[in-house]
Amino acid sequence: MLAMQYHRYGGSEVLRLEEVEEPHAGPGQVRIAVRATGVTPADWYLRSGMLRDIATVDFPHIPGIDAAGIVDEVGEGVTGTAVGDAVFGLVPVADHGGAAAQYAVLEAWAPKPQSWSFEEAGGAAGNIDAATRGLTALEAAEGMTLLIEGAAGGVGTIAAQLAQARGLTVIGTASETNHGFLDRLGVIPVTYGAGLADRLAPLAPHGVDVVLDAAGKGTLAELVALVGDPHRVVTFADFDADRHGVRFSRSPAGESPGWAGLPWAADLADHGRLTVPLHAVFPLKETATAHDVSATGRARGKIVITVP
Ligand SMILES: NC(=O)c1ccc[n+]([C@@H]2O[C@H](COP(=O)([O-])OP(=O)(O)OC[C@H]3O[C@@H](n4cnc5c(N)ncnc54)[C@H](OP(=O)(O)O)[C@@H]3O)[C@@H](O)[C@H]2O)c1
Repeated sequence: MLAMQYHRYGGSEVLRLEEVEEPHAGPGQVRIAVRATGVTPADWYLRSGMLRDIATVDFPHIPGIDAAGIVDEVGEGVTGTAVGDAVFGLVPVADHGGAAAQYAVLEAWAPKPQSWSFEEAGGAAGNIDAATRGLTALEAAEGMTLLIEGAAGGVGTIAAQLAQARGLTVIGTASETNHGFLDRLGVIPVTYGAGLADRLAPLAPHGVDVVLDAAGKGTLAELVALVGDPHRVVTFADFDADRHGVRFSRSPAGESPGWAGLPWAADLADHGRLTVPLHAVFPLKETATAHDVSATGRARGKIVITVP
């Protein structure tokens, strides 16, 4: 099969479209013919080598942690999914990727919502997993007010909508150019940076209850001060979390609490309550450009790669 892969750490120029061995579904897994896969910052963090001390990859390495496509192999012990089903889901966490290819193995999945294109579904699962993990860790419940630092990006847009579906009011930080976009998602927009507490006061007269940091821009001290308790803050992106007593949420090996979010999210999507805003879609052969666009840090929603 054709896959986009790299043989050494480096810039996006190390990515090569090559012929490789097809993977096969192990116990509890399915294999899909990939139609689309998401690009997440972790793809280029891993490729650059910046995470080599905490997450080494085996070379050659195929990026892409989530995907949508058509099931063409069902592993031992799998029930309720058959060859020919359209699904979206996550590649095994231990592999750190593998979906930027014609075939990929999934370890968690749900039926693709009818209302989503394959592009939308292909970029959804990683962020649904993360958002579900984060909201669960925060015990986010109806009536609370949630602040998302970095609400306009891939994970922020999904976390905002899942929180709204749980009955929370969501305030999200973004640059001014993304305020209209957040407003259309039902998120109260606010500009990030110095003075955030003052800007929040009129937007959340009863205060903010919980915070998800989806930006990782070194603002944990300010975010903890806003809610007065580090346990009411979860970060997806700030490696300094420990120093602030804040939980860093990442995919655990084995079953993630976020997997439960996949079927729920699919149901929300089919009721018109969850969209996957797409920033840009690239064909597989342009994966390097997709990584470079992600690395600008300015994505409004999700970047997705389609597979022929
Ligand atoms: N631990 C996990 O399980 C997990 C899962 C998913 C993602 N993540 C991490 O979470 C982070 C976000 O991921 P993503 O996929 O959402 O990235 P992304 O789509 O690239 O996020 C881009 C967004 O970041 C916003 N942004 C840039 N600078 C900001 C700042 N100083 N304050 C607030 N927002 C800012 C931008 O908004 P403006 O253009 O308006 O500035 C843009 O919309 C990454 O570090 C990623 O690795 C971790």
